[in-house]
Amino acid sequence: MSATEFPTGSGPAAEDRPARPVVAVVLVAAGSGQRLGYGTPKARVPLGGEPILMHALRGIVASGVAQQVCVALPAGDGALRRMCDEFKGELVDGGPLLTVVDGGLTRAESVRSALAALEEGTQAVLVHDAARALTPETVFHRVVDSLAAGALAVIPVMPVVDTVKTVEATSGEDARMAPEVVVGTAPREKLRAVQTPQGFDYDTLMEAHRQAAGFDDAEAAAVTDDAMLVERLGVAVHAVRGASQSLKITTPLDLIIAEGLLEGPLGARWVEG
Ligand code: CTP
Ligand code: MG
Repeated sequence: MSATEFPTGSGPAAEDRPARPVVAVVLVAAGSGQRLGYGTPKARVPLGGEPILMHALRGIVASGVAQQVCVALPAGDGALRRMCDEFKGELVDGGPLLTVVDGGLTRAESVRSALAALEEGTQAVLVHDAARALTPETVFHRVVDSLAAGALAVIPVMPVVDTVKTVEATSGEDARMAPEVVVGTAPREKLRAVQTPQGFDYDTLMEAHRQAAGFDDAEAAAVTDDAMLVERLGVAVHAVRGASQSLKITTPLDLIIAEGLLEGPLGARWVEG
């Protein structure tokens, strides 16, 4: 399929913006959700009566930015595959192409599985965590606007509210006082907590992941997002404002907060200014 044959997204009019690239969203949903401790893959965990995966998918489609959505699911998970197939049926003409792949053992492997299934003609890729199921549409738009303006890599970020220190494990006499000792304090005004969707020029992200595919186990374990792979290429990673609703549902407390966001007076549509 060529770029011009892609179904068009149904996003807001953007006459005064630079031309938008052909965007694919990679939705990584293949994790097991160990820290949530629900006993099922996190993508299947109910949130406001619907599985986390469905919230994430609906958010992407509602943003209108994607010509293709490629979902990485836990390998062999028939229930989640069926959910995606049913959702395909809900997508009216003009909605994105929905593709499903088996994820891998690490998040980066899941991203690579999905990248391999993107349509020819894809110009930009947004990599998004299904665990950030309540990400507001505005964040998708900020990321795509930045790509349209020429950024090769862009991440949504939030200021850090806690003071952040680096520590080392103690030993000998010190270990009797405490398990760790502080070795430095990072300047908080320059720190940012990083969210998804992270947006990239297609060729740039493919090259970053080609290199990462050759990492040894220790290097692979240190990869926590896609932007750090692009940083290694010497490419500038730009930052736009994220949103507190984009919290990564990781622990039971996060699930309670996410439920609270859905049940609030404005529901999931409440967006912090
Ligand atoms: N992910 C994935 N493939 C993996 C591991 C993670 O697609 N092998 C996805 C998760 O589904 C999630 C995102 O990457 O949407 C961020 O991962 P995380 O929040 O750590 O989710 P889990 O790995 O499922 O949780 P845990 O680490 O607690 O097991
Ligand atoms: Mg994980």
